[in-house]
Amino acid sequence: MIAIMCAMREELEPILKEIEVKEVIEYARNKYYLAKFNNLDLVLAYSKIGKVNAATTASVLIEKFGAKKILFSGVAGAIDADLKIGDLIIATKTTQHDVDLTVFGYEPGFIPESKVFFECDENLNQIAKKVSKKLNIKLKEGIIASGDQFIHSKEKKEWIAKTFNASAIEMEGGAVGCVTWTLGVPFFMLRSISDTAQEGAGVDFDEFLEESSRVSAKFLIAMLDEMVGG
Ligand code: ADE
Repeated sequence: MIAIMCAMREELEPILKEIEVKEVIEYARNKYYLAKFNNLDLVLAYSKIGKVNAATTASVLIEKFGAKKILFSGVAGAIDADLKIGDLIIATKTTQHDVDLTVFGYEPGFIPESKVFFECDENLNQIAKKVSKKLNIKLKEGIIASGDQFIHSKEKKEWIAKTFNASAIEMEGGAVGCVTWTLGVPFFMLRSISDTAQEGAGVDFDEFLEESSRVSAKFLIAMLDEMVGG
């Protein structure tokens, strides 16, 4: 069973359009879509925004639905200047930029007995790179930082860039990274840029959420095609 996860309805809808949904299961105040993509058994869900919702959905996907991998698709705010609206990025690692125990001498993002960065799956990232070459689509890779805040300030964005060496920002990947690391499940995360996370980002996000979601969804479907046999 492979899980496909998003945060928002707008991110999941373009994926659902491309697959054959067999059953919808309501569980824990959410909907889980069981589907087949060629010979792949899929379970799909959007978590709702934020790290707590993302952690809950990721845990349910693994523990209740038996997901052996989680593939995330959605949008993100750009940190790196070379990322433009609609560009794609895959995470090498995810982190939680809003974790702050620095008063106790820990580095930003660190929780005792856990860690700052959660590595994404190298094999899945290789498949993404192969697809990007095949289809001649620009694909960046980098650290993606998450927090329960929509970032719309140059100052905050620069702090996250400098502190975590992050290339993009969103609100779920750090939580899914933590859950998948804890439970030993490979995690892949793809995001298409919806805004530049500085002043005016809210307006751009509203304008580009659907289009950037479609860009990410389309690439994810191409990856599934590659996984079922190239
Ligand atoms: N997701 C998309 N854009 C974002 C931003 N600027 N901050 C947090 N999450 C986002």
